[in-house]
Parts: sequence; C-alpha cells; structure tokens
Amino acid sequence: MNVDQIKKILVVGAGTMGHGIAEIAALSGYEVYLSDIAQDILNNALDKIRWSLSKFQEKGQLKESVETIMSRIKTVVGLTDAVKDADFAIEAAVERLDIKKQIFQNLDKLLKPEAILATNTSSLPITPIAEATKRPDKVVGMHFYNPPALMPLVEVMKGEKTSDETAKITYELAKRFGKQPIMINKDVPGYIVNRILFAITNASCIVVENKIADFREVDAVAKYKLGFPMGVFELADYTGIDVAYYINKGWEELGIKTLKCGIIEEKFKANELGVKTGKGFYTYPAPGKYVKPDLPKELAEKLDPSLIIAGAVNEATKLLREGVASKEDIELGVKLGLGFPKGIFQYADELGIDNIVNALAQLRKLSNNDFYDVDPLLQQMVSSNKLGVKTGEGFYTYGKTEEKTYRTVKVRIEPPLAWVILNRPEKLNALSPELVEDINKALDELETDQRIRVVILTGSGRAFSAGADISSFLTLRPIDVIRIRTIRDLTNKIALYTKPVIAAINGYALGGGLEIAMACDIRIASEMAQLGQPEINLGIIPGAGGTQRLPRLVGKGRAKLLIYTGDMISAKEAYEMGLVDMVVPPQRLEDEVRRVALKIAEKSPLALLAAKLAVELGNESNIWSGMLIEGSLFGLLFTTKDAEEGIRAFLEKRKPQFKGE
Ligand code: COA
Repeated sequence: MNVDQIKKILVVGAGTMGHGIAEIAALSGYEVYLSDIAQDILNNALDKIRWSLSKFQEKGQLKESVETIMSRIKTVVGLTDAVKDADFAIEAAVERLDIKKQIFQNLDKLLKPEAILATNTSSLPITPIAEATKRPDKVVGMHFYNPPALMPLVEVMKGEKTSDETAKITYELAKRFGKQPIMINKDVPGYIVNRILFAITNASCIVVENKIADFREVDAVAKYKLGFPMGVFELADYTGIDVAYYINKGWEELGIKTLKCGIIEEKFKANELGVKTGKGFYTYPAPGKYVKPDLPKELAEKLDPSLIIAGAVNEATKLLREGVASKEDIELGVKLGLGFPKGIFQYADELGIDNIVNALAQLRKLSNNDFYDVDPLLQQMVSSNKLGVKTGEGFYTYGKTEEKTYRTVKVRIEPPLAWVILNRPEKLNALSPELVEDINKALDELETDQRIRVVILTGSGRAFSAGADISSFLTLRPIDVIRIRTIRDLTNKIALYTKPVIAAINGYALGGGLEIAMACDIRIASEMAQLGQPEINLGIIPGAGGTQRLPRLVGKGRAKLLIYTGDMISAKEAYEMGLVDMVVPPQRLEDEVRRVALKIAEKSPLALLAAKLAVELGNESNIWSGMLIEGSLFGLLFTTKDAEEGIRAFLEKRKPQFKGE
C-alpha cells in the first residue's frame, strides 16, 4: 500500500483527542468514520468539530465550507461492519492497555488485511497492542498533541514488528494532515517528547526534594533561564498531577522503568491535582481557573539550569546513540511538542557538556537512580573536548574558536561571540597604557569582524580590573593624561560601540575597572566580585566617567557615598542598587554570560544597535529629543532586510535568521 491509496480514515474514540483527529482528517480531504460507544458522545464531538472549524473559517483559513468538511465525517456507534472499508484506523480511546488490546483485536477482524492500525497512545508501548492482532507489522504509534487541530507535531513510533512501509505511510499521512511528523524507530514508551519531559520533571523533583532549590526557583530557572513556556511544576499543575501519577503507575504495572517523583505522589494523595482542583504546587483562584503564577526573576539566580536539563540531555543522547530517533527529529520534537525555544542538544552545547556531566553526577548521587549514569556518548564528548559552543564543537559544530594574543590582552573568538580577556593577572589587570591600547585594538578589530555579534569583556585571574595603574601616576604629567589614549576614551568607545558589550565581572572591579564595566551594556558579576571607586584614597577622583555613569546607574546619593568613602561593595550589594544586572556563582559566570550573550546574538545586529543608541543618546537628552531619536531609529529599521525577515518569520511561525542587512 502507499499513502495515495488511503481514502477512508477510521477514528476510534471521540473524546478530546479523537474528535480533533477526525477534524484534521476531514479538513485534509479524507472520508472519516468517527466511532464511539454512544451516539450522544458522537453528537457532542460533532458539535465541537463544527465549532472549531467555524473558528478557522472566521480567520479565513478554510478552503471549503464548514458543512462540506462536516459532510465527510460519518459517526458510527461501536465498531461494526459499517467501518470495514476504512484504509487507516487511528485509535484514541482511554489509556488502558486492556481496552486498547480489545479494540485492536476487533479492528483486526473488521478491517481489510492491508489496512493500517494506529494508536494515539501517549505513554503505552506499541508492541503489546500490536500483538493483540494478526497484523503486528501494520500496527503503529501515531501520537498527536492536544489540541490536534492546532498542534503541529505528530510522533510516529514503531513497535517491535512494525514494518518500515507502515511507519513510512503513517509518516506521510501525518504530513498530508498538515503536521510535522518525527520518526521513532523503536518502541520506547512515552515516545520522545514525554520521555524528555519526564526526565526534566524528575530532575526537578530531585532538586526540590533535596532542598537545593524550592519548586518556584526551579520554575523561575525553567522560564527565565531556559526559556520554557511554563515552569516545570506549573506545567504539572496545568496538565494535572494525576496524569503524571497515573502514567508512572501504569508503567510500573507493565514492568517499565519509571521515574517517580515523591512530591508529585504527595500532591496526588492530598488530592491537590493542580489547576483542576484549584491547588497543586501553586494555588489558583478557583478549580479549573488557571492564572500564571507570579515568579519574580530573581528566583532564577540561584539554581544551575544544567541540573534541570541534564537528565533530559542524557536521555536524548541515549535515544540518539541507540538509533531510536535522529538528532533533527529529537530537536523538532521538543520544540514543537513542548514549545522549547531550542532543541535539547542545543541547550546541552550552550550549557557545556562538561557541566551537564557534572550535573548528572550530582543527580546520580542524590537520587541513587542509574537513569543518571552518564551516557557513554557524553563521556566520550568530554574526553575529546567536544564541550559545545565553548570549544567550537559539541552535538553541533560552531565557528572554530580562535585565540589572539596581544601584549596584555587575550581575545577568544567563539563566533558569534568574542571574549576580550584583560591579561595582567599578576597586577590585578591594572590598566597600564599598554593594556588600554590593547583593549582598544582588540575592540577595533572585532567591530569589523562580521562573525562577531556580541563582545564580552572580562579579566584573567582574581580581578576584572583593579583600576588605573597607580605605579605610573607619579611620573604622569597633566598633559600626558590628555595626550595618551585614556581610559576615558575607552569607556566612551564602549558606550557607543556598534555591538553589544557585556562585562563579565569575575573579581575586583575598582576605579577605572569599574568605569569600563559601567560603560558596557550589561554587567554580570560573580558572587566573589568586589566593586568600588577608591580614587579618593589617593587624593584624586574617578577620571573615566565614574562621577557621571555611577550616579546615572545608582542615583546621586549612593554614588557620592561610594566615591566619598572609597569603600568596596559586594556583588550582591551592587546588584541591589542596580550597579550590576545579574549575580551568579563564580564557577557559573562564564556559562551564564555565554547563555545571555548567545540569546542576544540571535537578534538583529541593526535592531540591537538602534536600541543601544536610543537608550544611550536618548537618555542623555530631554524626553522630546529622546523620543525623536527613538522614533527615527524605529522608522529606519523598517528599511532593513532584518525587519522584513523578523516580521515574515513571525507570520510564518518560524525562527528568524537575521543577517544584519
Ligand atoms: N595599579 C597598579 N598596581 C596594582 C593596582 C593598581 N591599581 N592594583 C593592584 N596592583 C598590584 C599590586 O601593587 C600588587 O603588585 P605587587 O605584587 O608587585 O606588589 C598586585 O597588583 C597584587 O595586588 P595586592 O595589593 O597585593 O592584592 P591584595 O589582594 O592584597 O589587594 C586590592 C587587592 C585591589 C584591594 C589592592 O590591590 C588595591 O587596593 N589596589 C588599588 C585599587 C585602586 O585604588 N584602584 C584605583 C586606581 S585610580
């Protein structure tokens, strides 16, 4: 058989999924039998399909009338001879193996021998269902997402005996339904997407149960650091705590290895099932009424995102290594099925494979579950230095990293990022004339390097920079301060640099060091960093913008307090007064900065420049001039190819590719 021979589709079960599948089959031009055990269930399903189609019609998305499409759906009570000419059956009954087996036995008897029998199960294995028939080669998993009419993903999964032909026809049929199928070559309960979601939920449970973070902190990391559309526990509440509980229980009964979660079981036993009961991890205004939980961004500061995602990376790696699915299909699955902004392997590369492996070791220790044993492929990647973005190769290859060395500066080119590393660690990166000159040179070269979208400034050793080099002060004549390239010029260059500049403040940022950091667009500090304007102790004042940029960031009073006392403050204090924008543990500084920088690097370089100029220049003039600057730049962006690409990509529901044109 081939996909062109499929004309009639039978959908068994007219519940939430069944009626949606019948709708898209009819919408795609197929004759549909929709079967359930009672006529009133079927009538209800028809009403819902009609309503949904009328919504598509209102948006002008239907090529035919609602009635024409509806006329292709015939309802059938029970499974009778009436459906026997169906070419393809999709079962969408309750998630119980005994019931599914019974249905498949009946379908096997009723339908012609060449008909394909698919199950929309989301968690049960295909093989035992197939074994209830005499045509296990023609039984396949075809998993739609809720609501089928809107969700683009379909997972096609083979049982032990499913033939390649059956899987291929099912894949093609999903495409004819206008869906994006992914192919799963082996029977893995939960398909790809749910397995990955379970791994994320389980790791989150381990983190909470071991008091590394509370559930709100986990959710804040998931939303703000990983960009998930919902927090892990928010999603559990949303889909229903009972759903996760029963899937696990069902697996346990079938002897399938489970990833249990103690806190989910507790919630289940307390009948706190999430949105549906008005209380789960969060409390909702009324049963069934979902509102977004209020999660302040600061809650995302503490927890390492690698801990949340490491189990999922391990699982995805195993699926890839065992040939269960391709890398592209796994990535598509999480993006379309879970709404993640990136694929799971992309996350792994950005977070660093070494960090993922360390997180796995921690999860293994805490849970004592061999699920967290590091997959051999990940181990191999670490030993061959394929650590992801930072080494230029991981699951993907990136522009090769290059290093350039100046006298007192190292530059690491890691497209689309470049790290300018102040390299006089023995003098705490004190800003000697050579160092200032070298930073200038490096910035000039990077400004014209088309591969680079974001520049990061940081220091080697225990300082970002301890400020101007005091040792040269005594011999310095006033005229030299004007003639040599000063730190002041450098800060101005950074403030108006045409690419975003991030300061990764790894340690002391004092005097001129802090002034350079303040000229950067964003400041991310290690918890160990100490910041201050100590010039007053030398009988002088800040000379590279400290008296100007500091009050703009923290207010005049606090600025004067810092400048008059010369005191150093901790990164945390600096964060609280708005002097730095994020504080992270020292061992995570590089990865966190990389994560933020890569996010920015995906945007249009022209829009970023316009935003920077509007903020920098606009805020230094009165509001009317500022608004005019903003308005002019706003208008100018509409002449760019990037804006056209961004708008088109939104309308076509794809990720934009900005070229800076
Ligand atoms: N200019 C020149 N050299 C500097 C320097 C600066 N701004 N800051 C640190 N160094 C040198 C130190 O002289 C020392 O060199 P040495 O080993 O040859 O003696 C080296 O860097 C290490 O610093 P050290 O003072 O031994 O480290 P520490 O941990 O005891 O103290 C600081 C760290 C930052 C508190 C201290 O170095 C300091 O106060 N630096 C000056 C900061 C300042 O006033 N900056 C504004 C300048 S306008």
